[in-house]
Amino acid sequence: MTSAHPQNYPLGGTSTERDRLLSQAEQYEPTANWLLDQIGIQPGWRAVDIGCGPIGILNLLSQRVGPRGSVIGLEREQRFVEMARAEITKRGLGNVTMVQADGLNTGLEKNSFDLVHERLVLINVSAREAFLTEMLSLLRPGGTVALEDVDNASWLCQPAHPSWDILLNAFHTVFHAGGGDGFIGRRLPVLLHAAGVQNIQTKVTVETPPLGDYRRTHLISLIDSVCDKIIAKGMLNEAKLNEHREALAQHLKDPATTVIDKLLVQCWGQKSR
Ligand SMILES: C[S@@+](CC[C@H](N)C(=O)[O-])C[C@H]1O[C@@H](n2cnc3c(N)ncnc32)[C@H](O)[C@@H]1O
Repeated sequence: MTSAHPQNYPLGGTSTERDRLLSQAEQYEPTANWLLDQIGIQPGWRAVDIGCGPIGILNLLSQRVGPRGSVIGLEREQRFVEMARAEITKRGLGNVTMVQADGLNTGLEKNSFDLVHERLVLINVSAREAFLTEMLSLLRPGGTVALEDVDNASWLCQPAHPSWDILLNAFHTVFHAGGGDGFIGRRLPVLLHAAGVQNIQTKVTVETPPLGDYRRTHLISLIDSVCDKIIAKGMLNEAKLNEHREALAQHLKDPATTVIDKLLVQCWGQKSR
């Protein structure tokens, strides 16, 4: 794995993770477009997608702001920056520019953007308030900040399976120990409120991914990416971990098993004038 900060983004900038993020971005297109409709994004706007990974919502922003507008994709991982540049060229997104920087210190022009957005980045960042302060500093007065993060409150399989519970608990333990928060979604309105954001609105959606959808086995992918940490913490030995992984994989292959996905929480509002 080649990654500038593998400790902060556990899945790193691998091509497997790129493919997962590209397909996730496609799956989230309807909810992201719904959000952009609510915000009332206009042609000519300047927008930035912080932590955009290999595409994020750059394609949607590009289309909405049009040739008179401009979009910046900001990303910390060099490999994701390169992957995003390739996607931008492939899709002919002439009004989009990639910048490699940390969302905590973007170096972008302050008070200049109409829209500052992040999706699934705050969940990985421990300095959440500082991250939001930087996002807000980029907005013009009256500009819109938009956050989209998950909350694992709803995440389960039915019929329940002991291996799901054991692996989900192990994942949460190592993820939270690394500064992540799998329950950040519920806190988004409070975080925006504390940051002085006005007209805060929130929407929560949840889906039941069908057989073949990567979200059905996302817990197994996450476990694979942090298995060394689970073993190092002494939570499970390698043999036990593999046993649970196999048992769960079989259970999730069963068409009679339902998975209820994580909540997607969207929260947005305006910087005070
Ligand atoms: C789960 S991915 C989401 C990618 C994209 N926003 C999307 O929704 O498809 C999280 C992304 O946030 C980036 N990231 C994490 N912490 C960051 C930081 N402090 N500054 C900039 N990017 C960051 C990671 O490199 C990764 O690309």
